[in-house]
Amino acid sequence: MKILGYGKSLPNKIVSNDDLSKLVETSDEWIIQRTGIRNRRISDVNTSVLASQAALEAINDAQIDKDDIDLIICATMTADNATPSVACLVQKELGLENATAFDINGACTGFIYALKVVEGLLKLNHKKALVIGSEVMSKVIDFTDRNTCILFGDGAGAIVVEKGEDAYFFTKSKGNFDVLYAEGTSLNTDLDVKEITGGFLYMDGREVFKFAIRAMEEAILKVLEEANLTIDDIDMIIPHQANQRIISNVAKRMKIDESKFFMNLEEYGNTSAASVAIALTEAKKQNVIKEKDKVILVGFGAGLTWGSTLIEI
Ligand code: COA
Repeated sequence: MKILGYGKSLPNKIVSNDDLSKLVETSDEWIIQRTGIRNRRISDVNTSVLASQAALEAINDAQIDKDDIDLIICATMTADNATPSVACLVQKELGLENATAFDINGACTGFIYALKVVEGLLKLNHKKALVIGSEVMSKVIDFTDRNTCILFGDGAGAIVVEKGEDAYFFTKSKGNFDVLYAEGTSLNTDLDVKEITGGFLYMDGREVFKFAIRAMEEAILKVLEEANLTIDDIDMIIPHQANQRIISNVAKRMKIDESKFFMNLEEYGNTSAASVAIALTEAKKQNVIKEKDKVILVGFGAGLTWGSTLIEI
């Protein structure tokens, strides 16, 4: 696949570690030391609005006619509605009349799963695709739970792609309802008239930490193997932005210089499916990655899900 344009949208409201320490028993020092996160953005608009803003920026950056877009896929676990999908709302907002639009829920790996689906669909009959990662995680975060509320933030990233050099993929899932989950609406067998409410995100931090390191290492190695390349052939790794210590551990275990990992979690925290999309956009706009560079995108998340893609910019 070939990336034609990049975009992102981040809410204006910045919530610092000090702000959170007024809500839960924590401190700026603890959060920075254990995660590397200083700030995160909190949205006052829904997921589809951030998605539309990022998408519009990517379309403008690609300098294409919006009517040429025939596929829209949005990765998200915090859709505005059960239906219509965020992708359909973006389609309506931007008037992308020639597209097929749908969402993918792969939690924090969602953007990588979406790219894999897009790569396949471009080999069928689709020509130009808009791929978005968008989340308003603050909708599912319990701001009395210091375990989770320090980690997550809101935002969106998007790219426009067409058929190009083959991209390589490794993706995997392992069904698990213990270490990382957010419950959906409950059953209604008694046919009660009730208010429908969703559940907050629950996490066993230590278990997720261990899983994340193993998952990232496996995903990087497998995609290199798939492409028949070594880490020295890779210009940059753009990882899911969950915790600086996870990246440091992976870098150390794999003997990869940490500077090869593009990081921006200090300012945004973990934006789930948006995280790799935002980081990819920032890496390109800051000229950290350039045309022809070989880049690995790698992620992990609830599901459990994990995966990677190796693309040429
Ligand atoms: N502020 C201060 N203390 C906190 C805290 C906070 N926000 N959160 C937890 N603690 C406390 C714990 O209660 C514990 O205290 P105890 O020893 O008295 O029980 C202590 O700090 C150590 O907790 P622990 O869970 O071992 O910390 P940690 O070093 O593993 O860091 C996480 C916790 C959540 C930062 C870390 O486990 C992590 O990042 N896990 C992966 C999470 C992730 O990436 N999730 C998203 C996946 S897509």
